[in-house]
Amino acid sequence: MTSNSKLTVAVLFGGRSGEHDVSLMSARSILTALDPARYNVIQVGITREGAWLTGENALAALEKNDTIGLRPVALFADPSHPGLYLIRQNGIEKLADVDVYFPVLHGTYGEDGTLQGLLEMADVAYVGSGVLGSSVGMDKIIFKDVLRAHGIPVVESVVVLRSEILNHLEETVRRAENVGVYPLFVKPANLGSSVGITKCRSRSDLAEGLMEAAQYDRRILIERGVPNPREIEVAVLGNDQPEASIPGEIIPGADFYSYDAKYILDSSQSIIPAAMSAEQCQTICDLAVKAYTAADCAGLARVDFLLDSQSGEIFLNEINTLPGFTKISMYPKLWEASNLPYATLVNRLIELAQERKSERDHTVRAYRRKP
Ligand SMILES: Nc1ncnc2c1ncn2[C@@H]1O[C@H](COP(=O)(O)OP(=O)(O)O)[C@@H](O)[C@H]1O
Ligand SMILES: [Mg+2]
Repeated sequence: MTSNSKLTVAVLFGGRSGEHDVSLMSARSILTALDPARYNVIQVGITREGAWLTGENALAALEKNDTIGLRPVALFADPSHPGLYLIRQNGIEKLADVDVYFPVLHGTYGEDGTLQGLLEMADVAYVGSGVLGSSVGMDKIIFKDVLRAHGIPVVESVVVLRSEILNHLEETVRRAENVGVYPLFVKPANLGSSVGITKCRSRSDLAEGLMEAAQYDRRILIERGVPNPREIEVAVLGNDQPEASIPGEIIPGADFYSYDAKYILDSSQSIIPAAMSAEQCQTICDLAVKAYTAADCAGLARVDFLLDSQSGEIFLNEINTLPGFTKISMYPKLWEASNLPYATLVNRLIELAQERKSERDHTVRAYRRKP
């Protein structure tokens, strides 16, 4: 804590991912919600190229793509030089000590464990999951394996490699078809926002979808399509005792919840709470918390389900460890509907980051001989 007993919070946004712009929107809402009586806020904007820049209006500068007035800033992996440093032509200069880092970064280099690795090395408190939870949550293939190991229902799937797609397309298509009847969904293992995802209705769609996905990742997941799926989302909050919000439902404004349906078309809707029986609701919340714990998540995550509207079967689809966080995003809206207003939620996330850091400080790092 700083001398005036306010907490210094560094909010990190932008980033080297396809979800750069979404991150800026989430950060805008979070910065507005951080109470100046309670927090000193440092804005750290990460450009699409990965440069870390600071300034009082770093967010506005990144939004306008005019970063000339911002100053390069760095966090060292070495915990003996804590805090943020300005990088000047003639050397470095301490900018400030930081109590909590708040990554508001979606996708690669933000939500996937890489940034969390730096924050762990630096031994600082930060909002959200650690290296493991973030990377497991990011990788759709490994995440499904973890869920299967915990008996959590997931849609049938197969995995193929880019090299198999490029060198043996026909054979790979046939192997992918073994997963079930069309439609099939092809997904790169490690992206978000539906980038590189194709709904395939035929063998030729599948071949095209595999080629498309292979541009984005080395490992590709092919899933059986859930017929007439209902898309249910639950917000989870906490560290060792995570809690689930009430579930909400997304009605995609397109054939499926594609990139365009998420960000470009204005036709997708959310319904909170989702219309379902108390029993279904309980099952979904329990599965969400179970998956969150299984993947070693912390702080927050949004857990997304696909419900077969005919059979009533529930499948856990994916987890987002740094979900969209604008005022109208599903994650904060689900908590608002569960009696946790936006600003209180942000305060709670910062507390959870501090609690996790003090928990981590209790870990013994060297061998201690038993007496
Ligand atoms: N197995 C499936 N059956 C039916 N629809 C699916 C399936 N998998 C994905 N979808 C559709 O594709 C969208 C994006 O897939 P998802 O796995 O959530 O990837 P992302 O991480 O990009 O959001 C989902 O919201 C849903 O509309
Ligand atoms: Mg999704």
